[in-house]
Amino acid sequence: MSFEVHNTNFTSLRDRFGRIHTSVRVSVTDRCNIRCFYCMPEKVQFMPRKEVLSYEEIVRVISILARLGINQVRITGGEPLVRSNIWKLIQQIRSIGMIEDIGLTTNGLLLANQAHQLKQAGLDRINVSLDSVDPKSFQEITRRDGLEKVLRGIEMAKRVGFDRIRINAVSIKGRTESEIVPLAIFCRKHRLELRFIEFMPLDGDGNWLADQVLSGKQVLDLISQEVAPLTRVYRHDPSQPATDYEYPGGERVGFINSVTEPFCESCNRLRMTAEGRLRNCLFANQEWDVRHLVRNGHDDAEIVDLIQACVAAKKLGHGSNNGNFVRPERAMYQIGG
Ligand code: 5AD
Ligand code: SF4
Repeated sequence: MSFEVHNTNFTSLRDRFGRIHTSVRVSVTDRCNIRCFYCMPEKVQFMPRKEVLSYEEIVRVISILARLGINQVRITGGEPLVRSNIWKLIQQIRSIGMIEDIGLTTNGLLLANQAHQLKQAGLDRINVSLDSVDPKSFQEITRRDGLEKVLRGIEMAKRVGFDRIRINAVSIKGRTESEIVPLAIFCRKHRLELRFIEFMPLDGDGNWLADQVLSGKQVLDLISQEVAPLTRVYRHDPSQPATDYEYPGGERVGFINSVTEPFCESCNRLRMTAEGRLRNCLFANQEWDVRHLVRNGHDDAEIVDLIQACVAAKKLGHGSNNGNFVRPERAMYQIGG
C-alpha cells in the first residue's frame, strides 16, 4: 500500500484524547560517563553497540515523524555527548526542513570541547543536568568527580552563543535539600534558568519510594524564603511541562512536578529509545519496534503505521498521583530523559 493511500491525515499525530504530538525525544545512547544514583545502578550493563541506531537510521525516523507534524526534537541519553561526533547528527536533523527546534540534554562533562561544534551544527538549546554546585555533593550524587568540567562546559556553551541554557536538578527528599539554595543562587547569578524535577520511579536500582519525593511546592517555598520571592509567570505553550516562576529581576525558576501534579493532559511528546523503540509515555509499558522496520527494508508507509499505532495507544495519564502508578521496566537512562 502506498504512503499516500494509507495516510490521508498524515500531517498530524492526534491521539484518542485529542492531544496533537509535535515533539520527540530521541535517546542516542544508554551509556553515560557518570552514575547519578537516581538514574543508573553503579554496575550497569549497557546495550551492545550494534543494537543502537546509527545516525542515518535516526534521521530516517525523524524525517518521517516530521512529515507527521513533529517539529521539535530533543536529543537525550544516557549521555548524548559520549557518542562520537554527535554534532553530525544535529547537522543532519537541522537539514530536515520541518524541524523547527533542536535541543540536547547533557550532563555537561564533555560540553566544553563540543559546544562550538554543536552551535555550528545548528543546535538551538542546551539543558544541563546538575544537582549541586558543591564538588563533594556532586561526587556523592553522580558517584564520579567532575563538577569543574561541568561548570566549564556551561561557561563555554554561553561563550559560543547558547543563550537560554537550562539547568535541570532532581529533587530528592533527604538528599538534595541542602543543594537547592546554593544551586539557585548560582543559577540566578549566572542567568541560567533552573528547573527542578520531582524524583520519579525510574532509578536503575529500583529503590524509589514515594516519601522520597520532594515536591516542587516545597522547593519553591524554600527558594522564596531563602533566596528571593518568586512569582508565577504564565507562558503561551501549555505543553511545556514546567510551571514557571520569576525573581523580581526576571530570572526564572521552573518546576516539573511530574509526580505531584502530572501534566499528562497537555502532553505532546513521543520518545524513541537508543535501540529504536518508540514510546508514547515515560511510564508506558509498551514499546513499538521501529528498528525492526528500518533494518529490514520496510518502506516509509509501514513506519508511519507503526508511529500512528503508538500514538493511538497512548493512555490518558500515568496515574502518579492517584495510586495507579506502575513502575516501567526500564530506568531513565534506558528510556531517555
Ligand atoms: N527522576 C527524575 N528525573 C530523573 N532524571 C534521571 N533520572 C530521574 C529520576 N529517577 C533526570 C536527569 C536529567 C533528565 C533528563 O532526567 O537528571 O536532567
Ligand atoms: Fe547519566 Fe543523566 Fe543518568 Fe546522570 S541522569 S547517570 S547524567 S544519564
